[in-house]
Amino acid sequence: MDRHRNGDDQWQLSPGAAAGLDVQHPNAARMYDYYLGGAANFAVDRQAAEQALAITPEIGRFARANRSFLGRAVAQLCEQGIDQFLDLGSGVPTVGNVHEIAHRHNPEARIAYVDIEPVAVSHARQLLDDDPLVSVTQADIRHPGQVLAAPEVAGLLDFDRPVAVLAVAILHFVPDTEDPAGIMATYRDACVPGSYLVLSHAAAITMTAQEASAGQELYRGTTTPLWPRSAEEITPMLAGYHLIEPGLVPVDQWRPDAPTDTSANGYGAVGLLSAS
Ligand SMILES: C[S@@+](CC[C@H](N)C(=O)[O-])C[C@H]1O[C@@H](n2cnc3c(N)ncnc32)[C@H](O)[C@@H]1O
Repeated sequence: MDRHRNGDDQWQLSPGAAAGLDVQHPNAARMYDYYLGGAANFAVDRQAAEQALAITPEIGRFARANRSFLGRAVAQLCEQGIDQFLDLGSGVPTVGNVHEIAHRHNPEARIAYVDIEPVAVSHARQLLDDDPLVSVTQADIRHPGQVLAAPEVAGLLDFDRPVAVLAVAILHFVPDTEDPAGIMATYRDACVPGSYLVLSHAAAITMTAQEASAGQELYRGTTTPLWPRSAEEITPMLAGYHLIEPGLVPVDQWRPDAPTDTSANGYGAVGLLSAS
């Protein structure tokens, strides 16, 4: 797949993938792809992403730091022997996909990708269709029962063994009224002790209040409004897990490859589910 920004929307959706596709409004999956230098985005997404970057370049920095956090967390869980991943809101395939990292450690690892956005799902299917150890499901993660029962999830992952649930840069798209902590509790309850949760979430850490509210206002005009939260507000989504060191911290401070004193505008944590 051409990962270069072409600006001409020359890439193709797989047959049937256009169902439910809204190209009139920008969407977070495709804006995030643009921040990361991908080509799976439309003019409307690029325009909104450029507006967001004009409000604060911190949004682009969070995207890159978040992606790097995801890679480090997955690699470390592979080293702990985790070989099953349920990736909620997996996004458009880009550099350092979960299956690529996991298969570097364990070629037998199984990865179930889930996303609601047709472009993300279509690109993932085109990339992965012939890999029996990786599945792609188009579903809404706010309905955990449906996600867990989906044939590509239930048929690939064995929930009698530890699974790492990845909720990376997705829960800020779930408003309080839809109970993100309750949703995560349902995924947790489907997992056995020894399972993990990898979570990251947008937050206004170094942004001014004005930048944060202008960014939020911009995302209100997309199909995916955004709710940044404080560490205190994110903590209930991690309930039931023992957070491994260093706990819930700005994503670039979570076990960085090299010492850092920066703070990206999002928190990340990895939690272990112990026997209660
Ligand atoms: C910012 S991207 C994060 C991608 C990837 N997890 C990462 O951190 O690199 C958020 C993804 O969540 C997806 N998403 C948002 N709300 C969703 C929902 N209710 N169900 C499934 N996917 C959703 C979007 O389509 C998008 O691909």
